[in-house]
This record gives sequence, structure tokens and C-alpha cells, in this order.
Amino acid sequence: MGAEYGFNFKFLLLYLLLVMHMASQCVDGKGGAMDDSHGEEMHGEHVHTHDHPPSHMDHMDHSLLVFFTMNDLKVGGTMPIYFPKKDPSRSPRLLPREDANSIPFSYEKLPYLLQFFSFSNGSPQARAMENTLRECETKPIKGEVKFCATSLESMLDFVRGVFGLESQFKAVSTTYLTQSGVLFQNYTIRAAPREVPAPKMVACHTMPYPYAVFYCHRQETENKVFVVSLIGDNGDTVEALAVCHLDTSQWGRNHVSFKVLGIEPGSSNVCHFFPEDNLVYVPVQTASNNLINVM
Ligand SMILES: *[C@@H]1O[C@H](CO)[C@@H](O)[C@H](O)[C@H]1NC(C)=O
Repeated sequence: MGAEYGFNFKFLLLYLLLVMHMASQCVDGKGGAMDDSHGEEMHGEHVHTHDHPPSHMDHMDHSLLVFFTMNDLKVGGTMPIYFPKKDPSRSPRLLPREDANSIPFSYEKLPYLLQFFSFSNGSPQARAMENTLRECETKPIKGEVKFCATSLESMLDFVRGVFGLESQFKAVSTTYLTQSGVLFQNYTIRAAPREVPAPKMVACHTMPYPYAVFYCHRQETENKVFVVSLIGDNGDTVEALAVCHLDTSQWGRNHVSFKVLGIEPGSSNVCHFFPEDNLVYVPVQTASNNLINVM
């Protein structure tokens, strides 16, 4: 079992290293195109750690996103975006709930887990697991409900808990319509962004772990969800899911988006795009549905 997970995880980690490298470039404002072939350079050795104090909103996936504000959501607007591509055969496996529940999922059990998955102490995989478990155990901020789901069943239970047992909901996500393989490129907004009604929403982000783990959270504060048609400089077209957080006043001062956008907590809305394997759950509306990607 360990070997199989180890294999998948190695690729996940490569991807992670690539993405983190990109993120540090973005934050530094250096930018620059990069494709898959550069992944090899970062093989193994050094995982870039955050250069700012960790905060629950600042977990890996968020810090990789390119941030913008609602003002930027205009037809013809251009911005550089990193859309990671995942090979499903290399992605960590989604475990059935019974299997997931048979493996402890807690920071306290890390030594046991490293042994279980055959990762040595201090290895990049071990550090990624440690980060994920830590992020999952960090207390939510005021007005936030969070949950790390280790199976589809537990993810849906959490979503049901948020929306109410009677309500219907759907998952929306980013769809890559074409892919040149260039993961980081400038994209232009092709058409007026379509708002997906989201009186409530739960966002679920994939976390690096030997099997599929989703960090799901719901914020009381108002959010807007958009689907944005993008075309990249390389001709790639993406129906991208974007979420705008209207109230950022509770976010940590060190949140990477504030640095990127040069703003203060609470002074502006903050939006970001979602990679393809992240999900946003919204209630199903009866009339005038902006139906996309029902899962
Ligand atoms: C995006 O466009 C800007 C401005 O033209 C340019 O400086 C930057 O290098 C481009 N980024 C990518 C990833 O192509």
C-alpha cells in the first residue's frame, strides 16, 4: 500500500514544488513563463516554505493563487494566471469512507503515519503531510466553518450540514476547454463574467496528502462566485471559476493577497481563480440557472 501511495505522491510533490516555485515568483513580481519541463529542476530536495507566518487562510492552495479584485473582472482585461494541470492517474486517490476512517488523520499521529506510508522524517513528503495536518487542525477564523474531508462521503456530509439537509446543491469548478501544456500564461477575459448565485457557498481545496484530502470551508461573510471565459496567450480557453471575498477584514495581515495587491485587510474585496480540481458548492436555484459543470 505504502509503495503505491508513495509513487503517486512523488508526482504530486513535484507538482507542488513547481507550483510553489511559481507562487514565489509571482509574489516577487518576477513572473515569467514556465512549463512542465522545468519541473525536473526542482526534483526532491528543497520544498519552499512560506516566508511569512502561517495563518489558516494562508494554507498552501490559497497562497498559490493569483489574486485580483472585482474591478479587474472586465471584458478585455488581462492577467497572468497559473492553472495547474493534473494527470488523474497521478492524482491521489479518493478513498471510500470506511478506508479513510481506518487511517488516523491527526497531527499527533504523524510519526505513525510516516511509517505507515513509508516516508522518512524530514522528507518533502513528510513535510507536506505535516503542513496539511497542521492546516486542517488550525482553528477557523471568526465566521468561518472548516472541515478537512478524507472521503467524498464526508465532504458531502459537511456540505449538507452547511446548506441544510433539505436543500439541493451543486458543485461548480473550473473547466479547461483546451490545453497547450503551458501552465502559466496571460489570460484575457473574453466575455462578461457570469455570476453564479451563491447566497451560501462551501469551497473545497485539494491538499497535498498520500490520498485525496479536501480542505472545505464556509465563510459567513459575503462572497460572489463568477464563471469567467478566458483565453490565454497560447490560445488556451478556460471557463474559470472565480470567487470574490467581499469582506477581508478578518484575514491575517500577512495574507499573501494583501502583499500581492498592496492593500490592507478589509480595504477591498479579494478574488482568486480556482484550479480545476477544487470545488465550490452552491445551493441549486430554481429559476434562471447558470448551470455549469453539475457533478
Ligand atoms: C504577461 O504580460 C505582461 C505585460 O505584457 C508581461 O510583462 C508578462 O511577462 C506576461 N506574462 C506571461 C506569463 O506571459
